[in-house]
Amino acid sequence: MGSLVNKRILLGVTGGIAAYKSADLVRRLREAGAEVRVVMTDAATEFITELTLQAVSGYPVHRHLLDPEAEAGMSHIELARWADAILVAPATADFLARLVQGRGDDLLATLCLATSAPMAVAPAMNQQMWRHPATQQNVDSLRHRGVQIFGPGEGSQACGDVGPGRLLEPAELAQLTAGLFQTGVLDGVTVMVTAGPTWEAIDPVRGLTNKSSGKMGYAIATAAAEGGARVILISGPVSLTPPDRVETVPVVSAQDMFDAVHARIDQIDLYIGVAAVADYRPVSVAPHKLKKTADSMNLELVRNPDILASVAALPSAPFTVGFAAETNDLEMAARHKLEAKRIDLVCANLVGGDEGGFGADENRLLLVDREGTTELPLAAKSRLARDLIHHISRKFHAKNRTQDTRRAHRR
Ligand code: CTP
Repeated sequence: MGSLVNKRILLGVTGGIAAYKSADLVRRLREAGAEVRVVMTDAATEFITELTLQAVSGYPVHRHLLDPEAEAGMSHIELARWADAILVAPATADFLARLVQGRGDDLLATLCLATSAPMAVAPAMNQQMWRHPATQQNVDSLRHRGVQIFGPGEGSQACGDVGPGRLLEPAELAQLTAGLFQTGVLDGVTVMVTAGPTWEAIDPVRGLTNKSSGKMGYAIATAAAEGGARVILISGPVSLTPPDRVETVPVVSAQDMFDAVHARIDQIDLYIGVAAVADYRPVSVAPHKLKKTADSMNLELVRNPDILASVAALPSAPFTVGFAAETNDLEMAARHKLEAKRIDLVCANLVGGDEGGFGADENRLLLVDREGTTELPLAAKSRLARDLIHHISRKFHAKNRTQDTRRAHRR
């Protein structure tokens, strides 16, 4: 099943009696590792207070579409982009109808229009309202649009009726929400991801390294696992928690990383080199801490092996994806890297500017291969990683299909 660790969930609460369960739902989502922001409709505030949901989520509740204060902080568009997934629970019959129509007359409906994140609704209403053909048609058209419908459950209702229309229990809703992140695009594929910087020792306490935080590589490893892949993450020294369901191998230097990669490369179908590997290392490592005796000193460096190029050059190389962090001429530099290292795809990003790149939580990427370029716009690294994994999986499967066809022709 998918995981909610580090996921940003936007919870929409609409006006039904089941709204009282939303506080427990927020708690369950947070316990599973998610960050939750709540958006309430006016009607929802008749059933549960803003203050309760603010207290359990840890953030102010968002209520109004045209709120100058909110627009100065997190505007409705930013909120729509922020979300990794939108869950509306409870979703009333009226809200489902408005969602089908694509209304933009309140904050929640507008967010649902403005997001490209996966969306789920958990209907809750009287059983007769649920069974009404209008509601059933609305649910069908949402389903066709890719909106997941969670429930409703059956049983006795607040109005005294018995039948379908109960909001699912918060624990089950949290579990289903985690499932939104499970895509299956890499089912049965073994993926290796390298991440973080490397540390090239000068002496026992000093070394050469860089500003890579490892966030992008870790997010890609997580997204690949959610895609159904078996994932091996070879990680340089970072201060991140190893992702769930990923085999993490910690390494220190570029040579360690090279060895760890090649020790396992026979098992790999897809290699994604995200690590910012040091190009050079000191020729020798001083066995003791160096003392400052002279006014100047020279550090002689020697080239490290290029891990990505070495993987791409293997006789039965996996599908290889490399990263390029550039300060200018992004596409040209990426194309050069694609050919120089003979890899399948380059993910290029601009560094050194105001946004994205090393250490930031957001990034944008230009994906360059022999067929053309694709841009992934600025987004949270977790979101970007999922879009990237989708792109890579399409390219990976397309290449395998072509190779299978060629093999079949040769036979
Ligand atoms: N890489 C690698 N082994 C190295 C160096 C880089 O596997 N010794 C991989 C990185 O993981 C990344 C890509 O190669 O996927 C980055 O390419 P690289 O040529 O190292 O980038 P720069 O060092 O920025 O290149 P340049 O020489 O253009 O400065």
